Amino acid sequence: KPNPTTLISSPPPHQLIFTQDELKKIAAYKAVEFVESGMVIGLGTGSTAKHAIDRIGELLHQGKLSNIIGIPTSKQTQHQAFCLGIPVSDIETHPVVDLAIDGADEVDPDMNLVKGRGGSLLREKMIESCCKKFVVIVDESKLVEYVGGSGLAMPVEIVPFCWKFTAKKLESLFGCVAKLRVVMNKLDDPYVTDNGNYIIDLYFKKDVGDLRVAGDAMLRVAGVVEHGMFIDMATTLIVAGEFGVTLRNK
Ligand code: 5RP
Repeated sequence: KPNPTTLISSPPPHQLIFTQDELKKIAAYKAVEFVESGMVIGLGTGSTAKHAIDRIGELLHQGKLSNIIGIPTSKQTQHQAFCLGIPVSDIETHPVVDLAIDGADEVDPDMNLVKGRGGSLLREKMIESCCKKFVVIVDESKLVEYVGGSGLAMPVEIVPFCWKFTAKKLESLFGCVAKLRVVMNKLDDPYVTDNGNYIIDLYFKKDVGDLRVAGDAMLRVAGVVEHGMFIDMATTLIVAGEFGVTLRNK
C-alpha cells in the first residue's frame, strides 16, 4: 500500500501565485536534496528535469556535491550536462543507477506515468528501469485521474519503416486516433528521436483500461519500439502546486 502523501513545505506567505515553470523548479530542487556525493544519477529530459540538472551542476561547482556521474536520457540532456561540467556515462558502463530524477506528462493516483511528449521515452525507460530510486517531479497540472485522462497524447516510439501501417494497427487495436509527430512548424518533417525512430501520438477517447494489458498489446504490434506508459516505475513523487510541495513514496 503506498505511503500517504506528505506536505513537505507550504508556499512562502509573500508569494501565493507561481508560474508553472516556478512550480517545476520548486519540485526539481526538492528532488535534488536526495542526491549525494558519489552517486550515479539518471538525468531526465524536459523543462522540469532541466531545473534539477542545473541545480546538480550548481552544487557541484559550489563543492557541495562531488564524484557525481550523470546518465543522460537524451542528447539534449547530455549537452546540458556537458555544458555544466557534470561527468556523464551510460548504463553499459554503469548498469546500476542510484537515483533518477525526471518529469512526466501525466501521473495517475497509483504513480503510473505517461512520458515522452518531449520525445525521449525510450532512453528514459531504459535508464529509469535500472535505477534504485526514481523520483518524479511535476507541477500539479500533471496529475490525472487515469492514464490517458488528460486527453493529450500518449506517445509511442516506432520504426520509420511503413509507419502508416503501424499507426493504423494501433488505431484499430485501441479505437484511438494515431498521429505522426512532426517537427514544430514543419508539417512535412517527421520528428526523429535520438534513436532515429518516429513518434506516434495516440489520442484516446476513454481510459486505456488495464495499463499492462494495453502496454503489452502495443509492444506486440510489429514496428512498435516502446510506449510511453511507465507502469509501477516511480518510487517517489514530488508535486509542487499552489498548496505547497508534497512528497509521496511507493
Ligand atoms: C520527455 C518527457 C518529459 O519528462 C515530459 O515530457 C515532461 O516534460 P516537462 O518537464 O517539460 O513538462 O517524458 O520525453
